[in-house]
Amino acid sequence: MSSLSAKISLDANRTIGEISPLLFGGFAEHMGRCIYEGVYEPKSAHAAAAGMRTDVLEALRAQRYTTIRYPGGNFLSGYNWLDGVGPQDRRPRRRELAWQSLETNQFGTNEFMGFCQAIGAAPMLGVNMGTGTIQAAADLVDYCNTPAGTYYSDLRTRHGYSAPHKVKYWCVGNEMDGPWQMGALSAHEYGAKAREAAKLMRWIDPSIQTVLCGSSNDQMPTYPEWDRVALEEAWEQMDYLSMHYYAGNRDNDTPSFLASAVQFERFVDTLEGTLRYVKAKRRSKHEVYLSWDEWQVWYKGDPLQGNWTEAPHLAEEMYNLEDALVVGQWLNVFLRKSHVLKIACVAQIVNVISWLHTRGDELLKQPSFYVFELVSTHARGQALDLWVQAPLQNTQKYGDVPVLDVAASLDPASGDGAIFLVNRSLADSVLAELSWVDGSTVTLDKGWQLAGSDPKALNSWEQPNNLVAQPIALPRVADGQATVQLPPLSFTVLTTHSRQRNG
Ligand code: AHR
Repeated sequence: MSSLSAKISLDANRTIGEISPLLFGGFAEHMGRCIYEGVYEPKSAHAAAAGMRTDVLEALRAQRYTTIRYPGGNFLSGYNWLDGVGPQDRRPRRRELAWQSLETNQFGTNEFMGFCQAIGAAPMLGVNMGTGTIQAAADLVDYCNTPAGTYYSDLRTRHGYSAPHKVKYWCVGNEMDGPWQMGALSAHEYGAKAREAAKLMRWIDPSIQTVLCGSSNDQMPTYPEWDRVALEEAWEQMDYLSMHYYAGNRDNDTPSFLASAVQFERFVDTLEGTLRYVKAKRRSKHEVYLSWDEWQVWYKGDPLQGNWTEAPHLAEEMYNLEDALVVGQWLNVFLRKSHVLKIACVAQIVNVISWLHTRGDELLKQPSFYVFELVSTHARGQALDLWVQAPLQNTQKYGDVPVLDVAASLDPASGDGAIFLVNRSLADSVLAELSWVDGSTVTLDKGWQLAGSDPKALNSWEQPNNLVAQPIALPRVADGQATVQLPPLSFTVLTTHSRQRNG
């Protein structure tokens, strides 16, 4: 193992944008064991009165999720929300076509609101644009948000919820460009339907914010034309354009996989350009931002069809060190694109493509769990526009890529900051010289590192703490400079406190 050198400059006056708290959201779908046996399991020894697993709630609280997107996903496009409200013993059991499973509807909109409250997250509800109508979408807003005195708000009261749920964030459909979607539409058809749905939804509650479906990923043949056309149809009725992407190391090309941030940034840049183009073309003063409301590593090939059973084991991905380092870069990209990216939801929060698994009454936290927890806990305020000089390493997919991936935040109100560093090298450690160049006095408060020598190492039920973020000894800051050692295959977080010299 050899050692490389890098330089990083931080300047409180050079900022990218305000870090939206909603960048630390999650996604919960009626798929596999995410809801049933994940969030909700009345027979579990951990179940609270409402049937939710307290061990899962506690882990989700530790991750500080700010919003949860629900109920799908592909599930959404066949979902009748009325199936999931009212007395549980009268709710229908149905064939669920997206994942070929049996849906009992024991968990629905009101249970979801209780769940969000329990973990302190804002609900982000989807309306069905596949088999669903614009009327049913508007009715759900009425059910959730009207205080009283309408058919649907009174129905909510009869169901035991007299106070309105005040749901602010609404996804108007899911992946409507995908041939796999129930009721898939062309961009023109979808854009027009989403515009009309959002119009009715906003007439019922003008305070809501809406998310338009963008392309299902940047490999779709219709990308980014789909996004342009749908945006042109629905611009004034939408606040966000959604992005989805699942990364994977399918060719076992770890150097390229560990440079995935290059692709994530290009995806955002292209859609930022599309937003600007449509805004200009429409001569609009209205702003639309990006919502990366499905993101995760997903490629290991677990089953996706449930053979018409309840809570089947679907997509229960096991994550290793290289996957965790991709998650670290992804979160760094969120900070570096914080001027345009305002919502992000990791897919999903438990069991399904998740770094948190349940097995009976046990719970397993995978390496990327700790990466997300550290960033969602410490990234606050403004994202800093860093100057980074790091050696390049060659990758088959992206050419030369810097060995370090770095982002930093600073909350001007408190002076608290954080630096997030991924060393993507398989073999070389990096000695990184940090310089604060804005004249403030900086101290390093705390540091953690998740690192290992084997990119395929993971946490198993037998060895659950194999890869955990460990506290590290901090270097001294002298004359506005400090040097930190970053081992190969590592994710490091340093928290800082700054004071203006004359303040
Ligand atoms: O998160 C799993 C699935 O991935 C979602 O249902 C769908 O939106 C995406 O294709």
